[in-house]
Amino acid sequence: MSQEALENLLHENRVFPPTAEFAAQANATGAMYDEAAQDRLGFWAEQARYLSWATDFTEVLDWSDAPFAKWFADGRLNVAYNCVDRHVDNGFGNQVAIRFEGEPGDRRDITYAELKDEVCKAANALTELGVTAGDRVAIYMPMIPEAIVAMLACARIGAAHSVVFAGFSAEALRSRIDDAQAVLVITADGQNRRGSAMALKPAVDEAVAETPSVRNVLVVRRTGSDVAWNADRDIWWHEFVEQQSTEHEPEAFDAEHPLFILYTSGTTGKPKGILHTSGGYLTQAAFTHRNVFDLKPDEDVYWCTADIGWVTGHSYIVYGPLANRVTQVVYEGTPDTPNKDRWWDIIERHKVTLFYTAPTAIRTFMKWGDELPKSHDLSSLRLLGSVGEPINPEAWMWYREVIGGDNCPIVDTWWQTETGAIMISPLPGVTGCKPGSAMGALPGIGMAVVDDHATPVGNGGGGYLVLTEPWPSMLRGIWGDPERFKETYWSRFPGMYFAGDGAKLDDDGAIWLLGRVDDVMNVSGHRISTTEVESALVSHEAVAEAAVVGAADETTGQGIVAFVILRGGLPEETAKGEQLVQDLRNHVAHEIGPIAKPRQIMVVPELPKTRSGKIMRRLLRDVAEHRDMGDVTTLADPTVMNLIATGLETSSGED
Ligand code: PRX
Repeated sequence: MSQEALENLLHENRVFPPTAEFAAQANATGAMYDEAAQDRLGFWAEQARYLSWATDFTEVLDWSDAPFAKWFADGRLNVAYNCVDRHVDNGFGNQVAIRFEGEPGDRRDITYAELKDEVCKAANALTELGVTAGDRVAIYMPMIPEAIVAMLACARIGAAHSVVFAGFSAEALRSRIDDAQAVLVITADGQNRRGSAMALKPAVDEAVAETPSVRNVLVVRRTGSDVAWNADRDIWWHEFVEQQSTEHEPEAFDAEHPLFILYTSGTTGKPKGILHTSGGYLTQAAFTHRNVFDLKPDEDVYWCTADIGWVTGHSYIVYGPLANRVTQVVYEGTPDTPNKDRWWDIIERHKVTLFYTAPTAIRTFMKWGDELPKSHDLSSLRLLGSVGEPINPEAWMWYREVIGGDNCPIVDTWWQTETGAIMISPLPGVTGCKPGSAMGALPGIGMAVVDDHATPVGNGGGGYLVLTEPWPSMLRGIWGDPERFKETYWSRFPGMYFAGDGAKLDDDGAIWLLGRVDDVMNVSGHRISTTEVESALVSHEAVAEAAVVGAADETTGQGIVAFVILRGGLPEETAKGEQLVQDLRNHVAHEIGPIAKPRQIMVVPELPKTRSGKIMRRLLRDVAEHRDMGDVTTLADPTVMNLIATGLETSSGED
């Protein structure tokens, strides 16, 4: 972020205090901050009591083997029971849990009683396939109710799910299945995207051809497209799951029993399998959902637009909301199908009251114009949320005025796959909001902004965001790699969790997130490492060397810009052609997934390197963002930058 943009942020003086009307009915109270400050563990124990425990816990936190935490360790519970059965037991079986809307317009309401039957049938099916507690199950599915049922069925039998975003490539799926040694893959024939059926099963077939741990592939029929079939391995959901009994006794598991693994990009080419466990995770997911979104289970209609392939879908579509007995909208498709007002149409028809989405989406809608949302009645909305990347004040104000009718608190929620649940956010009805600021740590969360020496910077200062106390939904490790867990998060500032984000505190102590400080890019709220894209590029036969940077992008936050050096001896027409750039972009999409396709690829004769041979990414970022390059004297060859900058003006590769 430029110095000027920073200065502007720090002089943001618009504050929107809670309205008396909202405050009077809010779930959150100011007293929560005091309670948690006086007795943090007592506060979390109280939040954990909102769950139903089969065996009560006696100890809240065991931090004796830090940084490996145990929360509520001697308590036992079943996560799926907490998300489904107990609401039925409490007399809410007829409440709609999921209001599903497919992209083609098909709709299906699922009550808690029906959801319970579906989850029980799926749990029985998994058991019949030999899946047992402690196994891993990969889920590669579109946004359809069966995806949620599949996750809950795993939770119910104590198998850890590893959801892989359905936009990822076969290769990305294969490496994740392999790393977790999954025994089963649950998928669909395809998904509806932009008005047509997009196949999913071929990617699964390609992936499992090389993953011997997988015994079966369970396939939901969604699009009805023809699929290749391996009768020894593949099973139709509508045949096998549907015939199962709706009776299934939920077994209680230890609070620290693994619930899921979710892969996310780090600074190396190998994604990290972030491990979350049961009791602490569910406690904080439910607590934050209840208080940050002010959920009133009898009145609200909630809609989180995330995909279950990301952590937001795990914590704020599946676990937090369902534990709180939500009624929520689940939408399968894209926002522009059949028209660019699809989301506003959904909000109007379902009378959505609580809406949670990402800044990239908000900025896209700003570009599409105010007329689209204004042609719909959005007056049911009473709270708006934002997640995934910093929200700029302009987008925040647009969200507030055009979508929220100037009448809704906006919760800008900072958290990560690793944190499992929201850590920094205003509490609606309690905290005032400044456009673009996530305001402060939630009750029970220890946070600081520190300098290089781990000293807190104080108000008005900038530095690194750290978490100073363990929290219930914290990651318990990286699957199969305890050393990497310690090294990545706990070695930079001893005793503190290093989040990898830069942040500033303004004069009032409100926090402004400034994006990643490591080699992780944030494209449309998706984390992608520069190294992953570089590895994908150099795996192409024409590429000798590649350097990738995230450059500021008006819509997607950051865009991927790649600089490549070609191998010698390529025919001249290949080396010069636009076709090659397209091929490389497609190659990255094939290796990782379309979300990792570089916005721009530049063929360069040389990369800027220090005399010790390290690529100077700062300079490449300057070039990609059209900034003056400043001091280049540490470069081995200072003329390289001119060559690169001149080339960039003339090359591009956007669709
Ligand atoms: O850089 C921060 C950014 O997203 C990163 C976490 O990405 P992921 O694990 O994919 O989880 C995204 C959804 C929780 C963070 O390190 N980030 C997330 N929320 C915000 C944010 N940056 C600024 N403001 C936010 N509200």
